[in-house]
Order: sequence, then C-alpha cells, then structure tokens
Amino acid sequence: MFRTVLAVWSLTAVFSTVARTNRAGRPPHILLILADDLGWSDVGFHGSKIQTPNIDKLASNGVILDNYYVLPLCSPTRSALMTGMYPIHTGLQHLVLLPTSAYGLPLNFTTLPQKLKQSGYATHIVGKWHLGYNKWEYTPTYRGFDTFYGYYNAQEDHYDHTLLDILDFRDNKEPVTNIGGEFATFKYVEVTYFLATCCSIQKSYSTEHNIFLLENNTYSVLDHLFLCPPCV
Ligand SMILES: *[C@@H]1O[C@H](CO)[C@@H](O)[C@H](O)[C@H]1NC(C)=O
Ligand SMILES: *[C@@H]1O[C@H](CO)[C@@H](O)[C@H](O)[C@H]1NC(C)=O
Repeated sequence: MFRTVLAVWSLTAVFSTVARTNRAGRPPHILLILADDLGWSDVGFHGSKIQTPNIDKLASNGVILDNYYVLPLCSPTRSALMTGMYPIHTGLQHLVLLPTSAYGLPLNFTTLPQKLKQSGYATHIVGKWHLGYNKWEYTPTYRGFDTFYGYYNAQEDHYDHTLLDILDFRDNKEPVTNIGGEFATFKYVEVTYFLATCCSIQKSYSTEHNIFLLENNTYSVLDHLFLCPPCV
C-alpha cells in the first residue's frame, strides 16, 4: 500500500515522496525527486506531450499539491529542501552558487538527511548537489548523506561530465573517470536501482517501492535523492 505525495513545483521542480509502511511497521522509504526547470505542463498528468507514465502513476495514486510557492532557482530551492528554512534564512536567496563561489549552505544548519539519520535512516543522493563544494565540509557526504553519486555544480555536460572543461562527477568523494561518454541520467538510474534493490533485498522488503525506478524519460537534469531505512 502506497501513501504518495506528489507535488509539482511550477516552473521549477518536481518533488515527490513515496512512502510505505511495511507489515513490520518499519519507517517508510522516502524518495524525493527534484527536477530543475520542470515546467507546470511538462508532466503527462498536466497534459504534456512529454511522456511521464510513472510520475503520472504516482500522481494518480497520491495527493497532488498544486498551489504553493517555490524559489525559481536551484541553490535557494535546494537549501530550503535541505533545511526546511526559507532561503532568506540560509543566505542562499540571491542566486545559484557559481563554480567560483567560496561558500555553500552554511555549516551550522542541520540538514534533512542528518535528521533522518538520527531516526535510523540510510541516506543517499544521486544527481546534482549545488549547495557548495569549495571545502569538503560543504559536500553531500559531510552534510548527512551516506553516499553521493553525481556532480557538485550545475550545467555540467551530461555526456562528458565536465563543467568548464573540468570533470565534475564523483562517487562519494572520488572523481568518476571510468564511464566515458555515457549519458549521466542512465548512470543515475543504474545507481538508484542498485541502492534501492540493495535495501529491499537486505531488509526483505518487497520490491514494490521501486516503482520510482521506472521513471525514465529524456530530462537531462533529473536528480534523485533516495533515502531509506537502514539495511539490517
Ligand atoms: C547560522 O549562522 C548564521 C550566521 O551567524 C545565523 O544567521 C543563522 O541563524 C545560523 N543558523 C542556525 C540554524 O543556527
Ligand atoms: C531508458 O530509456 C532509454 C531510451 O528509451 C533506453 O535506451 C534505456 O535503456 C532506458 N533505461 C532504463 C534503465 O530503462
């Protein structure tokens, strides 16, 4: 049985949560999908020509929130998602972080994955970060995520994984140099699938919660955050 919340952030993002309480009463899996620059009419259930059958499925089984406000830019939105604070309180309200920005999401903020870890969750992020990288302390594996697979900045080349001719693609902290010209979204699907099936197998969960993996469209910027209870 799914309890699904799907919200489409007009002009900016899709935020979706898939939660399920399993028979043993364990905490639900939580999946957040954040898609930059997704327009209101870019999803099938709003009549788009772009096919999003799996997002449509989530929407039809869930709750659609369609009246709310969100920042029109990436870093402010992400800072709000990570902290629960309006961006003017995180200092990231002005613009996105640039590759040369010597700051990030201020280190004194507790993040959502840090909170979830306190509740026993394993936490993973796949895709884009864009909340700072000029010190290790700003990067995802220092901000509450057990693992990270993706890029620190924005507007990377999704085939050669560079920004300004510099590789911006990491597996945790290590540069990823072995995927050649593979389209990044396919790698994200692969890694997300691995994380999800690893958890479901180890916890004897049914694979039901993996429905999000069926989402496979041509968005070049598709970010997944996958958070799941600890594998035991
Ligand atoms: C973090 O530090 C800044 C600057 O001192 C302050 O304005 C902000 O309220 C602090 N945030 C938290 C969550 O403590
Ligand atoms: C996603 O879609 C592309 C294009 O249709 C296809 O080549 C690829 O195999 C699909 N990937 C997955 C994981 O389903």
